[in-house]
Amino acid sequence: MKLTGPFKQIVTLAHLPLRGKISDDQLEIVENGGIITDNGKIVDIGTFETLLSAIEKNATPCAIEFIEDEQICLPAFTDSHTHICFGGNRAKDFAMRNAGKTYLEIAESGGGIWSSVQHTRNASEDELLATLLERIQFLLNLGITTIEIKSGYGLDVENELKMLRAIKKAQTKTPATLVPTCLSAHLKPKDFYGTNREYLDFIVNEILPKVKEENLANRVDIFIEKSAFQPEESKEFLLKAKDLGFEITVHADQFTPGSSRIAVEVGAKSADHLEATIDEDIAFIAHSDTVATALPGASLGLGEKFTPARKILDAGGILAIASDWNPGSAPMGNLITQCAVLATYQKLSTAEVLAGITFRAAFALGLEDRGKLEKGMKADFVTFATDDFQNILYHQGSLKASHTFINGQKI
Ligand code: NIG
Ligand code: FE
Repeated sequence: MKLTGPFKQIVTLAHLPLRGKISDDQLEIVENGGIITDNGKIVDIGTFETLLSAIEKNATPCAIEFIEDEQICLPAFTDSHTHICFGGNRAKDFAMRNAGKTYLEIAESGGGIWSSVQHTRNASEDELLATLLERIQFLLNLGITTIEIKSGYGLDVENELKMLRAIKKAQTKTPATLVPTCLSAHLKPKDFYGTNREYLDFIVNEILPKVKEENLANRVDIFIEKSAFQPEESKEFLLKAKDLGFEITVHADQFTPGSSRIAVEVGAKSADHLEATIDEDIAFIAHSDTVATALPGASLGLGEKFTPARKILDAGGILAIASDWNPGSAPMGNLITQCAVLATYQKLSTAEVLAGITFRAAFALGLEDRGKLEKGMKADFVTFATDDFQNILYHQGSLKASHTFINGQKI
């Protein structure tokens, strides 16, 4: 057992609702707080003095980790949507986009998703692992301890499995929780000779059974969009993946509306992007258990509008916020900066943002054991050297996390 503290504030996020709007005055804040952990779980939270005197009075064997300087403490964050396993770089795409080139012109000059596929195919599993671990470290430094990571730049059996194996190997080398997702349905690769439907069947028949066999992922994603996969074929694919026992998540409504409906209809854990979602469909997803995930990093990377996060929350939806970190549309990776920007444009309370990168994001991944500092929850937390939690978003990512704790241990 260990008591960690004192913290100027502990923002527990305890008792907050899974869905809908939240105001900052609903936040439970323990002033001069301490956290008792044991076996990676939270045992108790209270004022440091009360916890300390209880330990002394009962002579409970307990280590004490004193926090010397002024720090505040929050649940560690979850990034529920990333593509951080990739080879190469797409800075040229970014510059071309800003010079006014179209999606097609960029693709024709060797850019786009296909360019990342070629670089990823050319990288060995160990090369992918090395850069993946660097990106995981970057996220850990932000206080993010649970990270979803997609395949989707291999797009054939060998290379999709290579990506997922690199992610599995990374899990043996990091204390973060990695959640792999099979996104072989990112795009029909140029070297697949057949229709979209035939490619989706190929995934169902050739890739997913191997993913299962090697226990590489239990989640399946698809990019439903005019330039990728069409609504009907996607729905059939998702139902087949579900039949095989996979959880579902969808890249939905990024440029054209309609696919978030499919996500809800197939019972997806989350529908992500939603920049183009129409009001009627906002109501539809908000009344479901499918998490609506905003990806402000993609809006910033592409110069597109933001996900209507305010409307989703007002309609009672479950809103998560994730980085979408990828080489093409979202190269930044700094989820805290992205959250701060989304909050200003969408008028989100700090409580709504924090919920979106903690227990609501974790819910999208089926991990209901984390994201709130409450008795029995996983003891992942992050500290900042400041006296007030409002400073985190206020500084828009410039205030760095001081320490990240996983299972009660400082990493
Ligand atoms: O989430 N929208 C589709 N997929 C990624 C972009 C991938 C890429 O451009 O490499 C996304 O934004
Ligand atoms: Fe994405």
